[in-house]
Amino acid sequence: MTARDRYVDLLMGCLTRELFLDHENVAPDIRAEGRDWPATAETMVGRRRLDNVRHAVEIVLAEGVPGDLIETGVWRGGVTILMRGILDAWEDPDRRVWVADSFQGLPTPNVEDYPEDEGHDLSGVTALKVSADQVRANFDRYGLLDDRVCFLEGWFADTLAPAPIDAIAVLRLDGDLYESTVDALVALYHKVSPGGFVIVDDYGAWEPCRKAVQDFRAEHRITDEIHEVDWTGVYWRKS
Ligand SMILES: C[S@@+](CC[C@H](N)C(=O)[O-])C[C@H]1O[C@@H](n2cnc3c(N)ncnc32)[C@H](O)[C@@H]1O
Repeated sequence: MTARDRYVDLLMGCLTRELFLDHENVAPDIRAEGRDWPATAETMVGRRRLDNVRHAVEIVLAEGVPGDLIETGVWRGGVTILMRGILDAWEDPDRRVWVADSFQGLPTPNVEDYPEDEGHDLSGVTALKVSADQVRANFDRYGLLDDRVCFLEGWFADTLAPAPIDAIAVLRLDGDLYESTVDALVALYHKVSPGGFVIVDDYGAWEPCRKAVQDFRAEHRITDEIHEVDWTGVYWRKS
């Protein structure tokens, strides 16, 4: 195993707290599968979905797929911290990592325009509200906060389309709702390079998210094969 692989492994073990579980009584497999909301970990995503992020970033670097990396819905920032760490480990000179979130939790469902989100109101959940300053501090803790980490602060509907992003190599969606998922796809999908990855964290676990992806793919006649990552995550590569 190379030093680069050891660094990325260690980074994932820290970001998930798998190396030092931060919940009393949490079963290691629950954390590893990313089924909990951990007390201090920088990501709630589990190991297989992080391995998938690593795989996607390493493939686009190895194959020279052009573009930046972005996650829409970052919570404490752990997945984007991992993305930045992998770029560092591979000594990538110029790709940016975009960190998109309201930094105030989920929106109140707009059921008039998005009836699929009815009954999925998480807007009052304090645990999902993490400030941009806290996320910056989390990047800094790992020595990974620099000018190639770009924050898009606000609702996806307002921030994503005008963001000065030319091309995307990895687009990771983790906004749970139909509205949040479709807003990100509409604003960003056309910027994903051929060979780029589209990763959807909530496809298996959240019906509104799955429906948004299915509707968008049908509308845009996207037939690229969907691959399962684990009990909830999926991805496809843009042809
Ligand atoms: C499940 S959490 C993301 C988990 C994160 N990817 C991780 O690694 O742990 C969902 C995040 O999406 C954000 N979010 C959801 N819908 C949004 C929207 N329409 N605009 C901006 N942020 C949104 C929330 O603020 C929250 O931080």
